[in-house]
Amino acid sequence: MRVRALWWDKGRLALIDQRLLPQKEKVLRLRTVAEVARAIRTMQVRGAPAIGVAAGFGMALAAQEGRSTPEGAARTLRATRPTAYDLFVGVETMRTAWTNGEDVLAAAEAYREKVVEECRRIGLAGAGLFRHRPNVLTHCNAGALATVEWGTALAPLRVARDRGAKLFVYVDETRPLLQGARLTAWELARERIPHAVIADNAAGHFLRTGAIDAVIVGADRVARNGDFANKIGTYEKAVLAKENGVPFYVAAPWSTFDGSKANGRSIPVEERHEDEVLELAGRRITPRASRARNPAFDVTPARYVTAFVTPDGVVRPSELRKRLPRTRRPEGAAHLGTRNGVRSSRRSR
Ligand code: MRU
Repeated sequence: MRVRALWWDKGRLALIDQRLLPQKEKVLRLRTVAEVARAIRTMQVRGAPAIGVAAGFGMALAAQEGRSTPEGAARTLRATRPTAYDLFVGVETMRTAWTNGEDVLAAAEAYREKVVEECRRIGLAGAGLFRHRPNVLTHCNAGALATVEWGTALAPLRVARDRGAKLFVYVDETRPLLQGARLTAWELARERIPHAVIADNAAGHFLRTGAIDAVIVGADRVARNGDFANKIGTYEKAVLAKENGVPFYVAAPWSTFDGSKANGRSIPVEERHEDEVLELAGRRITPRASRARNPAFDVTPARYVTAFVTPDGVVRPSELRKRLPRTRRPEGAAHLGTRNGVRSSRRSR
């Protein structure tokens, strides 16, 4: 059964609360931009493309609230999470529509359609990669929940399966918030795609013993040279894939490509509250005296990427510069661009 992460429902933004899956399928209905900002910060909605679309609808709610300018709402939304480039693209698209006197809700709906369509095309572009490589590892959740529909990393797998590939997906559990074990496994189970959840530290074993033919992940931000940020733990999987001669693919819509960044060194990396590491399912698992570090993302150098799966085809990192014109960074993103920056988010609960 197909998944839809969020939709517009009679003047409200409806979304599946991703913090509660798979135990509970609860739909939230948000009425204000402040509620949307909170949902993004607490990861009730998450995944770069879905965050961008949710932020777009957040701007539509701000317009509906009768605010005279888009600036305050744009600032609130941009301050939620620093790494996913889609957030800044979504906010800037709607800020521009508002400033030009256009219908902000219509612009948000058009933006959602564009993202969904790009993900559908990623599926078509990448499916062939897995025809003869059916045993696939993925990290985090880069499915419909993370992108509204289809997914990025999961889209080619869906299409490959529909075309008859006998897939088996290894799903990294993805500590600390378990997006793999909770969300990717939920999506694959709904679609009846055979899979096994593995502990985060098991991927090396399966790569070295030949169980895995290919790796595919999503991205939160891709720089012009092909360095990219994704969920913490991606970098080590990429290094292990190369060490073992296994191709490593990164799937993303164009809203994730940040043409203003020459390389990954200045991609801001969000650091979230230590309790996400100190606790598991709300229960403390470490000694009271212990502290934790909790970077939510890491940056993988382009040399570990076999190819990017884009809406317009499979692109080698060396070809990326030609395909990606240098762009102005979206309004307000400038303050996030500290070199090797790690920016803290407040406690998420
Ligand atoms: O912290 P999250 O859950 O928002 O992180 C999500 C990821 O890292 C995904 O892999 C990425 O956004 C790609 S989503 C298609």
